[in-house]
Amino acid sequence: MATDLRGSGVAGCVRMATGLRVRSASRYSAGPVAHSADDRVICVIGAGYVGLVTAAGLAEAGREVRVVEIDPGRRAAVAAGRSPIHEPGLDGLLAESVGAGRLRAVAGMEAGVEGAGIVVIAVGTPPTPEGEADLSQVHAAVDEAVRHAAPGTVVAMKSTVPPGTTRSLARRSRREDVAFVMFPEFLREGSALEDVRHPSRVVVGGEDPEAVRRVAALADGVDAERVLCDSVSAELIKYGSNAFLATKISFINEMAQLCELTGGDIGSVATGMGLDPRIGRSFLNAGLGWGGSCFPKDVRALETSAGYHGQSFWLLKAAIEVNSQQRRRFTGKLIRGLGGVVEGRRIAILGLAFKPFTDDLRQAPAIDVIRHLEDLGAEVVATDPVALDGARPLLQRTRLVVDGYEAVAGADAVGLVTEWPEYRGLDWARVLELMRGRLVVDGRNCLDGEAIVRLGGIYASMGRRPLGGPASAAGAAEPSLSAEGIPSLPLG
Ligand SMILES: NC(=O)c1ccc[n+]([C@@H]2O[C@H](COP(=O)([O-])OP(=O)(O)OC[C@H]3O[C@@H](n4cnc5c(N)ncnc54)[C@H](O)[C@@H]3O)[C@@H](O)[C@H]2O)c1
Repeated sequence: MATDLRGSGVAGCVRMATGLRVRSASRYSAGPVAHSADDRVICVIGAGYVGLVTAAGLAEAGREVRVVEIDPGRRAAVAAGRSPIHEPGLDGLLAESVGAGRLRAVAGMEAGVEGAGIVVIAVGTPPTPEGEADLSQVHAAVDEAVRHAAPGTVVAMKSTVPPGTTRSLARRSRREDVAFVMFPEFLREGSALEDVRHPSRVVVGGEDPEAVRRVAALADGVDAERVLCDSVSAELIKYGSNAFLATKISFINEMAQLCELTGGDIGSVATGMGLDPRIGRSFLNAGLGWGGSCFPKDVRALETSAGYHGQSFWLLKAAIEVNSQQRRRFTGKLIRGLGGVVEGRRIAILGLAFKPFTDDLRQAPAIDVIRHLEDLGAEVVATDPVALDGARPLLQRTRLVVDGYEAVAGADAVGLVTEWPEYRGLDWARVLELMRGRLVVDGRNCLDGEAIVRLGGIYASMGRRPLGGPASAAGAAEPSLSAEGIPSLPLG
C-alpha cells in the first residue's frame, strides 16, 4: 500500500510534487519507526563544511549536538570551540556553542550516536576516477552508526548521494527499527551560516512519513518552504540543482566565447538576458568556470548515474566539456599575451581557492591553470588570502606568497583567478610599477580594465574585447570581415 506524506501531519508550509506517492515504508524499513530516541539530541557525523555548519546551526537553535569526526586535528579544533575550516562567522558561533555546552566533539561513534534521535551523516562523497560518487565514507559512517543507534533513530543523509542510495542504505543496515531519510544541504561555502539560518528551501525525502516529519522538524521556526517527498526525489533535487546551476554557468561561458568571436560584450549580454525573470541574472557570470567540492563531482556523478540507468545525459556531458575548455581558454590568453611562449616567464596568479571567502581548493581552477603553466616552463608565483596552507602540498613547484604585491613583483603577466575583494582593491598603479610586463588577464571579469589600461597595462578578460594592446595579444581575437562581408571566426 502506498503512503502519502500529506497524511503525515507535517506542520508548516508543505509543498508536495503533484501526485507524489511515497512507496510503502515496509519495502525499505519495517514501517514507521517507533519514536523512542530523543530528538533533542542530534549526532552529526563529519565535521567538514556541511557537518560543522549544520551542527553549529542546530546548537544555535537549541538542540544538544554531538559531533563525531575521525580526523583528530579537526576534532581537537571543534572541542576547543575553533573552526578547522575557513567559514565566515563559524569560529564565533562554535566558541559560543561549545562554551554553553550545546555542542560537543565526542571521541567515538558510540558516544555520539547513543540515545540521539537523529543522526546526520555529513561525510564526504568524493568522485571515483570513473566519475561516480565514492560512497565508502558514507558506508563506513552509516555501518558504524547503526551498530550503536537506539531503536527509533532516524539517519538523515546530508551527504550528497546518487538516486537510490538512501533506500539502499536502509536495506544494507538490516535495522528495521532505524529509518533513513535524505535531507540534502544547499549551503554555499563562504555564506554557509547565513544559508543554514535562512535556507532557500527545506527538502526532506524518505519512505517513512514519521521519520520525514521528525527530520523536517529540525527546521521548525525556519522561514522557508518545505518539500517533503520520497528519498530518490530528494537525492535528485540536490543533484539537479547543482547540475542546473553548473550548466547555466557553462552556457554563459559558451556565450562569452561567441562574444569574443563576434565582437560582443558578455557583460551586456548577461545583463540583457538576466533581466528576463524566467532566466535571472545569477550564475550568468562568465569566467573561469565552476570548481569546488560540489559542482564538478555532482555534475559528473549525475551524468554517470544517468549512464548507469541507460540514459546519455548529453547536456551534462557538454557542460563538463565547456567547463574544462574554459580553464584552457584562460591559460591560452596568458600564453598568447606573452607571445606564445611562457618558458622562463614569470606569471603571478591571484587567488587559489575555487571562489572567494573559502579556503576550499577542491577542483579549484587555479590548480589546473598553474600546473599547466608550469608544465610549459613558466615560473608561477601565487597568492591567496586564506588558501596557502592547503595549496602547499598541491603546488610544490609554485612559489606561494602571502602578499599580493610580492606576488606580482617582477611578473611578466598577472592572471586573476579568484575574485577576492583584496585583489579587486589592489592599487593597480603600484601593481604595474612592480611588474616586469604589462599583461593582466582577468579570469573573473571583476577588474576595472579601462583603469588598468590608463595606467599603462594590457587588459584581457573573458568574453569581452581586450584593451590596451594589440587586439589579438591576449586572447580575444578581433572578428574580421571576409571578402563576402561574413565575419571570419578565428579559432578560439
Ligand atoms: N561543501 C559544500 O559546500 C557542500 C554543500 C552541500 C552538500 N555537500 C555535501 O556534503 C558532504 C560533505 O561535504 P563537506 O564539504 O562537508 O566534506 P568535508 O570533506 O569537508 O567533510 C567531511 C568530514 O567527514 C569526516 N569523516 C569521514 N568519515 C568519517 C567517519 N566515518 N566518522 C566521522 N567523520 C568522518 C572527514 O574527516 C571530514 O572532516 C558531501 O557529500 C558534499 O557533496 C557539500
